[in-house]
Amino acid sequence: MSGKNLIKNCSSEMDTCSLMPKRLEGQVAIITGGARGIGEATVRLFVKHGAKVVIADIEDALGTSLAASLSPSATYVHCDVGQEEDVRRLVDIAVSTFGRLDIMFNNAGALGSQSRNRKSIMGFNPEEFDRVMSVNVKGAALGMKHAARVMVPARRGCIISTSSVAGVMGGMGPHAYTASKHAIVGLTKNASCELGRYGIRVNCISPFGVATSLLINGWREEDDAEESKGVAINEEEVEKMEEIVRDMANLKGPTLKAIHIADAALYLASDESRYVSGHNLVVDGGFTASKNAVGL
Ligand SMILES: NC(=O)c1ccc[n+]([C@@H]2O[C@H](COP(=O)([O-])OP(=O)(O)OC[C@H]3O[C@@H](n4cnc5c(N)ncnc54)[C@H](O)[C@@H]3O)[C@@H](O)[C@H]2O)c1
Repeated sequence: MSGKNLIKNCSSEMDTCSLMPKRLEGQVAIITGGARGIGEATVRLFVKHGAKVVIADIEDALGTSLAASLSPSATYVHCDVGQEEDVRRLVDIAVSTFGRLDIMFNNAGALGSQSRNRKSIMGFNPEEFDRVMSVNVKGAALGMKHAARVMVPARRGCIISTSSVAGVMGGMGPHAYTASKHAIVGLTKNASCELGRYGIRVNCISPFGVATSLLINGWREEDDAEESKGVAINEEEVEKMEEIVRDMANLKGPTLKAIHIADAALYLASDESRYVSGHNLVVDGGFTASKNAVGL
């Protein structure tokens, strides 16, 4: 293997470096919700592994500056994933810029209100439900549709979506969010059923809590708190949220970070998962698989 196909893999914990093969050399990926959080971590990891990446988001300033910092391996496209024309254009730009599309990561998401007075089913807000479903479910379905449009003729491709532990069990998020994340798991299974014959794999990832803007802003206590676009999160809030998640976690030791979800996306996008399709890769340290009722 040539040196060009290897990356330096450095672990600050162990203070060691080794040369690892690049796992996405020559591949082209779209990552929605790529401007920050889990999406941003995945953009950076995919580029490190040799992919060309189209960052799709509605946060133009963040997306543009991330793409500029990774140029020429990344570019930014404004795309509201709930708008079909935006998603059609996004896929067309990926193909015209980089010549092909191998990986579609439908990661953009909206949490909706978690505030005490609004999360009850008796406070169900149809407009908010439509908004959350539009981003999370319609957005993923449109991503699948337009990715399949170019992947089917190529008879290859990989589609990944971000579900959640709220797509596996109840009690992990507001009602609309929980419904939407369950829907992503169903959509993933159905799309994998149809697209397998064309050599296209379709999977999703279900993360436990990661201290991103979505999670931190979503848990703000104000009654009218939306998961708030544009409210910056600070280091203190991140540490506090990570501590809450560590306390709730089944697996003790590591703190779940965006890079761990990016690692799962890299696995699903790479050849190492070449026979994995229709799968929901739950990254939760065993949280949804266990309820220690008998004091084990
Ligand atoms: N953070 C968690 O604990 C957690 C847990 C499980 C699942 N998830 C899922 O992970 C995904 C990424 O979330 P995150 O935690 O990184 O949050 P984040 O807020 O850091 O990132 C979400 C990104 O999606 C973008 N986005 C929102 N609406 C959009 C739209 N209509 N079109 C295009 N982009 C849009 C935002 O601008 C933002 O850049 C979401 O699908 C979320 O539901 C997060």
